Amino acid sequence: MKDITKKYTNGEVTIVWKPNVCVHSEVCFHGLPEVFNPNNKPWINAEGAPTQRMIDQVKRCPSGALTYFLNADAAAEGGIAPEITAESIVEPLPNGPLLVYGNIVVKDAAGNETHKNKVTAFCRCGASSNKPYCDGTHAKIQFTDKPNS
Ligand code: SF4
Ligand code: FES
Repeated sequence: MKDITKKYTNGEVTIVWKPNVCVHSEVCFHGLPEVFNPNNKPWINAEGAPTQRMIDQVKRCPSGALTYFLNADAAAEGGIAPEITAESIVEPLPNGPLLVYGNIVVKDAAGNETHKNKVTAFCRCGASSNKPYCDGTHAKIQFTDKPNS
């Protein structure tokens, strides 16, 4: 599959989107529709919210399809965007996947290893067609992590 990368900037921060990595969980759309709205063209409006608010939302992208860099940092590095250093955090996304931030190795039952970095979204609803990873199906089946009443 062709590796596509799209960039959107407000002059201060640049949001980077990799459509081939996106699992269409719509975390971005629900969290900050002023910026991430699939009904608009382009679907990312980097002028739609303050820089820090957009960065906070980008960090919540479960697949790593969204990343960012500060333009000042990129300029200081001679135009090369620095890698965002992921923190080691495990976070269950409400009604969604289990997010693991950081560099990890995922080993399957046959012992095959896959290296992942930034953010990895593991299916928590059981309905993904791409287990152990989330493929966005939890939204379709309206998965809830609330205890059964
Ligand atoms: S994977 Fe990331 S970019 Fe794709 S819809 Fe979800 S939050 Fe948005
Ligand atoms: S948690 Fe996303 S598909 Fe299961």
